[in-house]
Amino acid sequence: MTIANAKIRFNENGTPYATQFEDLYFSDNQGLDETNHVFVKHNKLLQRWENWQNQQFVIAETGFGTGLNVLVTMLHFDIFRQQSDNPTFRLHFISIEKFPISHEDLAKALSLYPELAPYSHALLEQYPIPVAGCHRLTFLGGKVILDLWLGDVHEVLPKMENKPQGLIDTWFLDGFAPSKNPEMWTQGLFEHMALLAKDQCHFATFTAAGHVKRGLREAGFDVQKQPGHGRKRDMLAGSIDKPADNLSRLPYFARKPATMNKTPKIAIIGGGLAAANCAYALSKRGLQATLYCQDNALAAGASGNAQGGFYPQLNAQAGHASQIHALSFNYASKLYQQLLNQGIHYSHQWCGTFQVAFNDKVAARYRKLVDNQTWPDALIHWIDAQQATNIAKVDLPYPGLFIPQGGWINLPELVAGLVKAADSTVVINQQLTSLARTNGPWQLNWQDGSQCDADIVIMATGSDSAAFQQMSPLPFRLVRGQVEAINSQNALANLSTVLCHKGYLTPAWQGSHAMGSTYVKDDTNRDYRLSEQQTNLTMHQQALEKCDWINDIQPTTSGRAAIRCSTPDHLPMVGAVPDTKIQSEQYHDLYKALPAKHYPPPINHTDLFMLCGLGSRGLSTAPLCAEILVSQILNEPLPLSSNLLDALNPNRFLIRGLIRRQG
Ligand SMILES: Cc1cc2nc3c(=O)[nH]c(=O)nc-3n(C[C@H](O)[C@H](O)[C@H](O)COP(=O)(O)OP(=O)(O)OC[C@H]3O[C@@H](n4cnc5c(N)ncnc54)[C@H](O)[C@@H]3O)c2cc1C
Ligand SMILES: C[S@@+](CC[C@H](N)C(=O)[O-])C[C@H]1O[C@@H](n2cnc3c(N)ncnc32)[C@H](O)[C@@H]1O
Repeated sequence: MTIANAKIRFNENGTPYATQFEDLYFSDNQGLDETNHVFVKHNKLLQRWENWQNQQFVIAETGFGTGLNVLVTMLHFDIFRQQSDNPTFRLHFISIEKFPISHEDLAKALSLYPELAPYSHALLEQYPIPVAGCHRLTFLGGKVILDLWLGDVHEVLPKMENKPQGLIDTWFLDGFAPSKNPEMWTQGLFEHMALLAKDQCHFATFTAAGHVKRGLREAGFDVQKQPGHGRKRDMLAGSIDKPADNLSRLPYFARKPATMNKTPKIAIIGGGLAAANCAYALSKRGLQATLYCQDNALAAGASGNAQGGFYPQLNAQAGHASQIHALSFNYASKLYQQLLNQGIHYSHQWCGTFQVAFNDKVAARYRKLVDNQTWPDALIHWIDAQQATNIAKVDLPYPGLFIPQGGWINLPELVAGLVKAADSTVVINQQLTSLARTNGPWQLNWQDGSQCDADIVIMATGSDSAAFQQMSPLPFRLVRGQVEAINSQNALANLSTVLCHKGYLTPAWQGSHAMGSTYVKDDTNRDYRLSEQQTNLTMHQQALEKCDWINDIQPTTSGRAAIRCSTPDHLPMVGAVPDTKIQSEQYHDLYKALPAKHYPPPINHTDLFMLCGLGSRGLSTAPLCAEILVSQILNEPLPLSSNLLDALNPNRFLIRGLIRRQG
């Protein structure tokens, strides 16, 4: 969903000023000092980091604005960690913003602070397009995570995934002055701050307004007046004592972390996009995993295509699936760019993708998406036939939707790049036949009769996932697909963007174009078929019938077939592997819709996790899904709202069935 940008002007000192709120974003000439005084000093950040026992410190902020508070804190953290003897200590910053500043205004505002340049540069590189929801950005090689939530604090906070022991170690209660923005400074906000706080959570705010002081006290904070910054006489700071008793919103979807020791032995079963992304996400936390792959090379399953289209599936209504796709696509797009910046090579083209409005019905659907203004133009916008022809560099007499950040990627090279960046150990020709756990670690039984153990196991086994007893009750849907390799010649050779309709056609790479793909349900045969070549050809000729050049195309027989692992609702399964037998008993009376406290937390297979069901959009969804999974395993804040996480929970089908009394 689109979020409106802030309306800003800059005053004579270059300080940004919000015209809607008639207030400055930070003190004239003193923004940095004010952040240091109010938020760093009065939250006692440096002293608390010095004595911190956990692996991460979580700060949450109301009003991201220019990101000045985040960047100043990051500077302190960067200096601190270089002197610290705890190299895996991480800072997790959550910031919420209702009216994000445009990229251009942000660059201008931050240019006032050259001392923050390395961090500002990294922020500007990852700054998201204005789509509502959580955007996860990473800094300092993963040592700092910023979850930038776009939306109103009053809508975002209730959707944030809380934990039994709370989520936040420190609040930066920022925002325009309470008198200029009374809608934000409500009792509801203070109550939510308390709800999400961990025991001994601190807070600081620049204001000393009476109703803020009383409201925070009423919510449970101990509030002290402190000397304010500059001309402000007072400010407020304090902390909260809190028992660890947060109730889960929907207990059956509670997401449990792994039972971790400090250096867990982690096994990832799989050698495709899912496995490689999990390995990469773990490595950013300093954790190494071993990948076990049954084939004689990585990316020999669904992730074996030389050119996969990279684009999200967006609808006119921003339902759960569309929101997940939009946020995942943005995350993936930044992650792929970061890999390139690190010198990791994989063949690709960010050439955009064009969704062809190939008949009136499709055109009407696409127009609705544009007219509803569901998504920002930077993500997807309408282009007419002439613009389409100009972009595609082939005659294309159709209008449609253009996704400028899209393109194509070579999947095996991407998988290899992720594994290289993660510096993971890879064991090929190693097929897992079963796994079991009593009280100690998981015991993994291999096809050759050997065994090994692992503390944490991540199943990224694609279309073979149902072969394991623990996952066999889950409703995987297997769909065979064949993609063609088309000789690059004649007009087609000029194709310069990815064309999508019922299928897709890419620009050339090494003399051929990928033209995909077929969908054959419940067929797990991977042989190349001439009959499906004809299906692919006919599909493209019908959809692009107004293009003369489509009749010249010549498939070769070097196309490829593989098996997609999908799910009944076409969303991946991300999280703990549910013990379906026990959960069926735990929740047998869900249809009665008793109060949440009636239901216990779900029993899962301890320390067994999964990232499966990537279906036909793995390039878009795998990176964020892996990040979610690893965040869950490590008990970090999660980068999606609870309702979207529920939509990815592997036990959702069981739960839905029990609610409808069909489980
Ligand atoms: C024809 C076709 C076209 C597609 N086009 C696109 C596209 O244009 N864009 C897009 O985004 N997506 C596309 N996809 C989907 C995309 O390829 C998948 O979503 C993604 O590759 C799935 O990755 P994965 O790691 O889950 O599965 P896979 O790549 O299948 O990986 C599963 C891995 O698990 C390993 N494994 C399984 N069982 C065991 C075991 N017992 N022991 C050890 N290892 C095991 C396998 O060896 C394999 O390495 C397409 C898929 C197909 C088939
Ligand atoms: C003073 S600025 C914050 C300055 C910021 N912390 C910084 O470091 O630059 C206040 C911010 O709060 C945002 N804001 C105002 N009302 C909000 C709301 N209800 N929900 C989320 N953000 C809000 C404004 O758009 C603005 O960016």
